[in-house]
Amino acid sequence: MTITIAVTQLEYDKGKTEFESAAEEGLICIPAPKEETELAEFIREHGAGHVILGVDVYSGELYQAMPKGGVLARYGVGDDGLDIQKATENGILVTNTPGVLEESVAEHTVALILSAARNIPEMNSSTRNGKWPRGLSTELRGKRLTVVGSGLIGSSVAKIASAGFGMEVTGCEVRYVNTLALKHEYGFASIVRDFAEAVADADFVTLHIPSNPATRHFINSHRLSVMPQKAWLINTARGAVVDEAALYDVLVSGKIRGAALDVFENEPYAPVTPDKDLRTLPNVIMTPHIAASTSEASKRVAERALRNIMLAEQKEFENMDLLNPEVLLNQ
Ligand code: GLV
Repeated sequence: MTITIAVTQLEYDKGKTEFESAAEEGLICIPAPKEETELAEFIREHGAGHVILGVDVYSGELYQAMPKGGVLARYGVGDDGLDIQKATENGILVTNTPGVLEESVAEHTVALILSAARNIPEMNSSTRNGKWPRGLSTELRGKRLTVVGSGLIGSSVAKIASAGFGMEVTGCEVRYVNTLALKHEYGFASIVRDFAEAVADADFVTLHIPSNPATRHFINSHRLSVMPQKAWLINTARGAVVDEAALYDVLVSGKIRGAALDVFENEPYAPVTPDKDLRTLPNVIMTPHIAASTSEASKRVAERALRNIMLAEQKEFENMDLLNPEVLLNQ
């Protein structure tokens, strides 16, 4: 059995060893262009049965180019770039890779929190520029962290922050969750539904919710206005959940302390309006959507994406990380 899988170039490079060795199982992975029109052409040209892809937006031709029964396997967890309804209509199975990257994202989140608390980006550049600015920073012990979203990633952040740093962690969650388990296993001190209540005395507010129409601009000018002035906003989830123009305004006016961001409304970063460029602000820390990009997580993510494809080939649909199980009615 030989099955051809198109893997977008960046993702191929991240999981190269796993994609190469998949050939032993008959899965031939070929690096492919990420741009939708080119990717669609590539799929037809190579007769690819499945596709593994990154975080970009795919809204049209991809779904026509893929064969019915093929797997559109997200290399990662967020599915906001995919049109799941269109995939289902075309008989395409959509998967992601839950449970293998949350530690990497949580560690990067904590790195951003530490960078903010200890002023590391500024200390680094000042020291390198010949200055010796030995001002005071703050400890994390006893500080208040609000974790918005208590899924795998939010819970991992809560665990590191509570067990590692002795932070007081409040969860903000609107879904039904097992509050007792979250408290006992992950160290949440409390879980509340209301954002204003959850952030009332927060030193750091970190976002771990998916991006979808309901969460677009979840952090808007109103929610920013109820955050304390001492608070940092941390975002390693998705850029679309924050209204960046509103964030710029509160950062300029000093209504919140700062923002540490790994994800943006436009990626690579470009300001949403030219006069609100977050790069011009000293109280902003930025990284280029790399929270999940560790060598360990990349390997596990590649293995998980390949596993989903193999399970589809073996018709073991119930063991897949299937995001559109309704597609099976149409196979
Ligand atoms: C990374 O952003 C992912 O969706 O896994």
